[in-house]
Amino acid sequence: MKRLGINIDHVATIRNARGEGHPDILNVAKYVMKLGADSITIHLREDRRHINDKDLITLSKFKKIPINLELSTNKKITKLAIKCKPKFVCLVPEKRNEVTTEGGLNLKKNSKKISNIIQLFNKNQIRTSLFINPSIEDIKLSKKIETKCIEIHTGKLSRLVRSKKNYNNELKKIRKCALYAKSLGIEVHAGHGLDYKSTLLLSKINEISEFNIGHFIIGESIFFGLKNVIKKFKKICK
Ligand code: PXP
Repeated sequence: MKRLGINIDHVATIRNARGEGHPDILNVAKYVMKLGADSITIHLREDRRHINDKDLITLSKFKKIPINLELSTNKKITKLAIKCKPKFVCLVPEKRNEVTTEGGLNLKKNSKKISNIIQLFNKNQIRTSLFINPSIEDIKLSKKIETKCIEIHTGKLSRLVRSKKNYNNELKKIRKCALYAKSLGIEVHAGHGLDYKSTLLLSKINEISEFNIGHFIIGESIFFGLKNVIKKFKKICK
């Protein structure tokens, strides 16, 4: 059984569209957990375009809800994260003008900075993860940085699957990386752009232990409701 982390950033986007409090993030997190999520993923972006500091502070107080906080290497956000002590963190790259996280971290370029942040979270007993492209080189660097987990960026695979193009090479690459990371003792997660079909394909890779999915779940729920959509993903995760 793989764990299912549900990203609720898009709920915050809907709330922010009206500048008021509905839908309430804490209530959504509780509801999604009740429906079978294993954790809640939120990304506190530097421009605070969806989740904000207050959301992180509020959610972190509910220790029954395992929070997976995605963050960049921004000093102020790192400081706040240490203060809030989410259960998990995942370091991601951030570009101001991107619509979503377009690729994995550049570990080669930012190795020292990322390593220092990972050490800090490790010391604070917060499970660490690095969002990386499916690359053996990046897994070797991840091992050096001493992250506990990696999350493989599945954006390319998801796009190929959705557009009915040949995805075999990308899937093979992800499988090879998952196997290699696991052999080094790194826990393997996967996320970005996943829908039913791409998640089903990845569910056959035993070394992947967690999915983090957001946009498709929230979008599909408009038609079928959160309850049915999460139920379907839980079935795929089995
Ligand atoms: N995992 C990571 C590290 C991400 O940055 C994102 C997007 O915020 C996701 C998972 C979820 O991606 P999606 O919303 O496309 O399912």
